[in-house]
Amino acid sequence: MDQNNPLSHLDDWEDDIIKRYPEPHTKQKEEYRNYTDSPRDELVRNFYKLNHHYQTFDFVQAKEAEFLGLSKRKMSVWEALDYLNTLVDDSDPDIELDQLQHLLQTAEAIRQDGHPDWFVLTGLLHDLGKVLCLYGEPQWAVVGDTYPVGCQFSDKIVYSEFFADNPDFSDERYNTKLGIYTENCGLDHVKMSWGHDEYLYHVMKAYLPKPALYMIRYHSFYAQHREGAYNHLMNKEDHENFEWVKKFNPYDLYSKAPVPPDAKALRPYYEDLIAKYLPDELLF
Ligand SMILES: [Fe+2]
Ligand SMILES: [Fe+2]
Repeated sequence: MDQNNPLSHLDDWEDDIIKRYPEPHTKQKEEYRNYTDSPRDELVRNFYKLNHHYQTFDFVQAKEAEFLGLSKRKMSVWEALDYLNTLVDDSDPDIELDQLQHLLQTAEAIRQDGHPDWFVLTGLLHDLGKVLCLYGEPQWAVVGDTYPVGCQFSDKIVYSEFFADNPDFSDERYNTKLGIYTENCGLDHVKMSWGHDEYLYHVMKAYLPKPALYMIRYHSFYAQHREGAYNHLMNKEDHENFEWVKKFNPYDLYSKAPVPPDAKALRPYYEDLIAKYLPDELLF
């Protein structure tokens, strides 16, 4: 096992989220894998140990400087989807959906419920920021729950006990309830732990409606959208838009269908949808 990348599959942490937040009134619970006493639990623990240790305010600032100039690649959405799909990890003996299938299933489930087309598009795009992994970034700096840095870590964050290893935990600039922030300053002024959510937000921010951008930027912020642990940093606009983040989350978690979507058949629909909102090429 690579010490810096404990997960055997990048999506192990998401499977763990489904265990943490099982689908209410689950109709086909038995179709999901049985998670009890899984060796995966240990991998996920190790993953969060690294994440919580190393995601400091300074670390986030350094990653922002490294990536938010968007000078790594120029790709069309479909090129980015193909590129992301090279991330398939065969070391997991379970049959896993590849990244494209997860994105198509999320988008299709949103489409079937009759939501606006930009919401469908957001389903297709929301995990594209995981291309960070292909730049060689460690798993703990790409996926996992996200949370504010620069202020106290909430005990509502998964495995919050591991924050004891984080230098910011004992830094008095950062370890009070508000830290460097002011009450209800708004999340736009708050630095989040670094990962695929924040990165993709910056790739997309010029092109999509605000609720879509909130879904992309905060979809892994479970401590807020599931637990409400950071109301003291949220402003009115955040609260309004988090209704969309909450609406999005079940599609992300529970849209795994037994039959994989037919990517080829769906492609023309999504090509048109992409062209409606996004330029031919995006800067990543
Ligand atoms: Fe994600
Ligand atoms: Fe996702």
